[in-house]
Amino acid sequence: MSALFSPIALRGLTLPNRIMVAPMCQYSAVNGEANDWHFTHINTFALSGAAMFCIEATHVEAIGRITPGCLGLYNDATEAALKPILASVRKHSKIAVAMQLAHAGRKASSHTPWDGGQLIPIAEGGWQPEGPSAVPHKEGEAAPLALDAPGLVRVRDAFVAAARRADRLGIDALEVHSAHGYLLHQFLSPISNKRTDQYGGSLQNRMRYPLEVFDAVRAAFPDHKPVGVKVSATDWVDGGWDLVQTIEYAKELKKRGVDWIDVSSGGVSPLQKIPLGPGYQVPLAQAVKQATGVTTMAVGLITEAQQAEDIIASGKADMVALARGMLYDPRWGWHAAAELGGHVDAPPQYWRSQPSTQKALFGATTFGTR
Ligand SMILES: Cc1cc2nc3c(=O)[nH]c(=O)nc-3n(C[C@H](O)[C@H](O)[C@H](O)COP(=O)(O)O)c2cc1C
Repeated sequence: MSALFSPIALRGLTLPNRIMVAPMCQYSAVNGEANDWHFTHINTFALSGAAMFCIEATHVEAIGRITPGCLGLYNDATEAALKPILASVRKHSKIAVAMQLAHAGRKASSHTPWDGGQLIPIAEGGWQPEGPSAVPHKEGEAAPLALDAPGLVRVRDAFVAAARRADRLGIDALEVHSAHGYLLHQFLSPISNKRTDQYGGSLQNRMRYPLEVFDAVRAAFPDHKPVGVKVSATDWVDGGWDLVQTIEYAKELKKRGVDWIDVSSGGVSPLQKIPLGPGYQVPLAQAVKQATGVTTMAVGLITEAQQAEDIIASGKADMVALARGMLYDPRWGWHAAAELGGHVDAPPQYWRSQPSTQKALFGATTFGTR
């Protein structure tokens, strides 16, 4: 019996296996609106064998987009654009669909990665980013505006409005993005948060705004649907956000009913030194799980079926999330199930692909012709 292919319950949502397609920005939206690229992309991964697909960082305000091509959910047009995509997914797949709600904060107004990923100055068509403090991400860059009290309320309310729109679209779960150096992580990290009010200084104060946003999103989304949080467990910079603080944050989130913590790292400082290697963030997920008992997802260079199986079977994490490995092999879940003796749902149009040695891969299937 494969641990990776055993079910797990996240609040009212029961998943048939422990695999999530990690959120991945596609930088292909126009005015925050999804289009044919997202249709193809999301429908492809709906047939990946993963139990849950998490829609890319979906920004709650236009100025909170990382790039001009980032996805949004902040008006009727952005909501309407996602509707036919979700309808298609529901028609052909049983995958659960989560959405990552995000705000880029001071990392907004960036070029797409394939155009270099750097700040787009206002004079070149960019916009004014806002963050916890007027401290730029990179030395020499124009500083963001520090959010004032009405600004904090506006952004929190934008998260709430997006959560309501997501529910209306039939999204099964939300992941609040507080990782990778974006707005909520910027509040957590002493590197980006230099505030002197109740949102800066002590750990308690730095956690205050992300926790307020979590509470507001949790309250706006139906009770039976799960809400998780993605964290950067460390900035990989001395004097920055670290694992000890992450565990305190996870404990606070647990008290507030968080359904999972997706444990990533880095993103707040260009000075970070990340020790990359297979499963390099798994020990961080394990530490969060051990210290808090919260359901955790491990993410980061998990590419092999047996590697994922070992992470779950050894109790280091409760789920795995895969990004690049999925892009490379969009049927990763099928191949992992074949290797580990699991089952996946497949659409009848593809049943004949079942390997002759794997007669139960797609469960009970029959196929006749004459
Ligand atoms: C193309 C691409 C886009 C990404 N966009 C997001 C995103 O929208 N939100 C997020 O939290 N992480 C994002 N990530 C990070 C992944 O979710 C994941 O945490 C990271 O890539 C490590 O996992 P991997 O080694 O399986 O790729 C992105 C990664 C890639 C490769």
